[in-house]
Amino acid sequence: MNRQEALSLMQEHTQSASLRQHMLAVEAAMRSYAGKFGEDPEPWGLVGLLHDFDYEKFPNPEHSPTDGHPAWGVNLLRSKGVAEPVLRAVLGHATYSGVPRDTQMAKALFAVDVRVGASLKEFCGPRGAVGQEEAQRQGIRPRRQPGRGPSGRRRARRAAR
Ligand SMILES: [Fe+2]
Repeated sequence: MNRQEALSLMQEHTQSASLRQHMLAVEAAMRSYAGKFGEDPEPWGLVGLLHDFDYEKFPNPEHSPTDGHPAWGVNLLRSKGVAEPVLRAVLGHATYSGVPRDTQMAKALFAVDVRVGASLKEFCGPRGAVGQEEAQRQGIRPRRQPGRGPSGRRRARRAAR
């Protein structure tokens, strides 16, 4: 699967602008890290671009390792001949999949994914849900970030009311 085919597939399954942006941003970061590690940026980019493509249609709130995101998407990608290391990295980014993150690519995806979710939050405003959605997708409880949410002064003012 080339980059154009992956982009078309992602856009076909994802209408949410923020989720599309998230995958594009993770793709860009993954390509950059591939260069840093002396790896081929193509599969690394595919992993980023496709890792959540099935989330909108099959969000999998039960965190089933075999149905819904990301298992559903991986089955489709496998039928289209996507390479196994790419599929394993996509499965591995969901903590509930049971697939270990045993390659540099899989580890990078996991690390990049949460960070990109968090930084996109800045574009969506302090109440933007992208970072929280991302954490939820992965079954991770979002941690309050320093500098986000009400400042100490605002909290104190609120408490004094
Ligand atoms: Fe993601």
